[in-house]
Amino acid sequence: MTRILAISGSLRRDSMNTKLLRTAQTLVPEGVVVEFADLSSIPMFNQDVEAEGIPAAVQILKDQIAAADGVLIATPEYSRNIPGMLKNALDWVSRGPVRPLVGKPVAVVSASGSIYGGIRAQTELRQLLTHLSAGVLHSPEVAVGQATQKFNEQGEFIDEAGLRFYTTLLGNLLLKIELEQRLKALA
Ligand SMILES: Cc1cc2nc3c(=O)[nH]c(=O)nc-3n(C[C@H](O)[C@H](O)[C@H](O)COP(=O)(O)O)c2cc1C
Repeated sequence: MTRILAISGSLRRDSMNTKLLRTAQTLVPEGVVVEFADLSSIPMFNQDVEAEGIPAAVQILKDQIAAADGVLIATPEYSRNIPGMLKNALDWVSRGPVRPLVGKPVAVVSASGSIYGGIRAQTELRQLLTHLSAGVLHSPEVAVGQATQKFNEQGEFIDEAGLRFYTTLLGNLLLKIELEQRLKALA
């Protein structure tokens, strides 16, 4: 079984980015499970808090990333960048002796009401993940623009062209995961 951890950069109940992640479950082949992280309880990063011990919600996220074969992040765009709470979560994950994002295959998608689909936030996120030494994928870029029109009442992503690119991206993520596993087996 291959495990993908889905991380949404939006806490909104009706988040289009979270819906995009849910759709991934329907696009991956049998034997691949998509599990969800919950960033809602992650406290603001504070080195004093860190010195007292890793908060439980952060430890859970780090453990989930470590246990996953790959990660899929969906981010909104806030002021042409990623939301602060996603950056905050990644700041926590980037610290300490165990850094589970290092070498981890990661795919990034975004959705926004604007025509640009959050592509600028996506670019910022890729740069950040590269700095954190994650194995971030660069193509295809799935940036869902005018996203309010691209989900049905059940919350399913229904844009045909978008679904094709998304399926390709997920396929690329699975290929990268397989490659990593083969390399590990050789080591
Ligand atoms: C503080 C803030 C800043 C935003 N800045 C941008 C922006 O720069 N570009 C953009 O496309 N959308 C921007 N938006 C709109 C969000 O992308 C939009 O609310 C999106 O639906 C949020 O994703 P969600 O549905 O997953 O919550 C902004 C929204 C907020 C709250």
